[in-house]
Amino acid sequence: MKNKKITEILRRKNKKPIVCLTAYSKTIAEILDKYCDIVLVGDSLGMVLYGMKSTREVTLEMIINHAKSVKKGISKSILVIDMPYRTYRNKKEAYKNAKKIMKSTRCDALKLEGGKKIINVVKYLVKKNIPIMGHVGLLPQSERKKFQFKGKSSIERRRIIEDARLLSNAGVFAIVIECVEESLAKIISKYIPIPTIGIGASKHCDGQILVTDDLLGLSNFTPRFIRRYSNIKKIINKSVSRFKYDVISKKFPSKKNIY
Ligand code: KIV
Repeated sequence: MKNKKITEILRRKNKKPIVCLTAYSKTIAEILDKYCDIVLVGDSLGMVLYGMKSTREVTLEMIINHAKSVKKGISKSILVIDMPYRTYRNKKEAYKNAKKIMKSTRCDALKLEGGKKIINVVKYLVKKNIPIMGHVGLLPQSERKKFQFKGKSSIERRRIIEDARLLSNAGVFAIVIECVEESLAKIISKYIPIPTIGIGASKHCDGQILVTDDLLGLSNFTPRFIRRYSNIKKIINKSVSRFKYDVISKKFPSKKNIY
């Protein structure tokens, strides 16, 4: 039986756009929960938060710890967690790790990267009643080269469409489409019956997701698909330099700050 919140997301196909963002901590999750339909604990945390070279270094323990923190800030949104690289290489491994993440974080769903290559694993998890979100297009866990948009050749386009079709047939409730050419995202979103969530995949998707640190201006990542809504780095810099000044000039702590 599908979770009520997930049934609601399925109903949003071709209707009101689905709002999704990433969170790695309770503080950010509490804010996002007011505005988002889906909050994702993405394995992007490896690169964004830990300065790793790729998402492949993220471990199950890392994602679980961050997800536990995020869960504390969520009351209404759907909480989705990325299954890290090499935690779903076969059905047995995937089920064991999926159960561990679900049980220790009490999240609503898991996200796996890939299509045809992992389809038997996806089918198996869905059969075991684990709600799954798919992810096609650019797949950071498998990408060995510099991240570049996908769908340049017709072979690649056909493969991505086929991945999305297989995932939809396997019973995933939504699919993230990352960094693909606009017309490809349009075709996938038109022909598959479940919601598509785009990141660098045009307005034709049923929803959009961004890495929160990117939209806040906390990261140095600036591909064209990101829209910066603030420059938090500037605000932090200003605050920290004022603190430094106050400490050095003995303006902090003041009478108000002492016991
Ligand atoms: O890891 C992540 O944050 C993601 C999003 C970019 C979709 O997978």
